[in-house]
Amino acid sequence: MAPIRTLISQEQIAQKLGEMGRAISDDYREKDLLIVGVLKGAFMVMADLAREIDIPAEFDFMAVSSYGASTQTSGVVRILKDLDHEIADRNVLVVEDVIDSGLTLNYLMKSLRVRKPASLEVASLLVKEGIQRVPLEVKYQGFTIGSEFVVGYGLDYGGRYRNLPYIGVLDLESDE
Ligand code: IMP
Ligand code: MG
Repeated sequence: MAPIRTLISQEQIAQKLGEMGRAISDDYREKDLLIVGVLKGAFMVMADLAREIDIPAEFDFMAVSSYGASTQTSGVVRILKDLDHEIADRNVLVVEDVIDSGLTLNYLMKSLRVRKPASLEVASLLVKEGIQRVPLEVKYQGFTIGSEFVVGYGLDYGGRYRNLPYIGVLDLESDE
């Protein structure tokens, strides 16, 4: 296994999700909210963020594929699992683990927007700085990070490391 340097600790994640959960709860207090997690990466953010939200939101999931097994985005996004719910006239909040090039989310937002939700916003635990290729408005942002490839807390490299309780940088240069 390649060495992993901790970038964001469990405690830092928990604190940030608390802040995000409170902001989301306040903003949607009197509204009908459907929270949409983007699988697989967002499964851990969804589970922990959900527990910080104190309004009776509904939850749904979509699965998309973007990278395959590489660390480079292909720009090709496929919907592997669509929502179970209709979203017309509902307030929809898409929850992501990380926004890198923004291509995945951009594609997703387009395909959700045509279904005419009452509102459509994004929450992402991580946003990579400066390299978003498509302009995206992320209403609830956790941490801004550099362009390094990160793993843990839902994020994978070749399908592994999702179960790390913190976010780390995989040192792919060094000997294994
Ligand atoms: P984007 O389309 O380039 O914004 O990439 C978004 C998707 O690629 C994310 O939802 C992740 O699944 C994956 N991804 C992007 N950056 C990383 C990373 O640093 N580690 C693991 N997965 C990543
Ligand atoms: Mg993702």
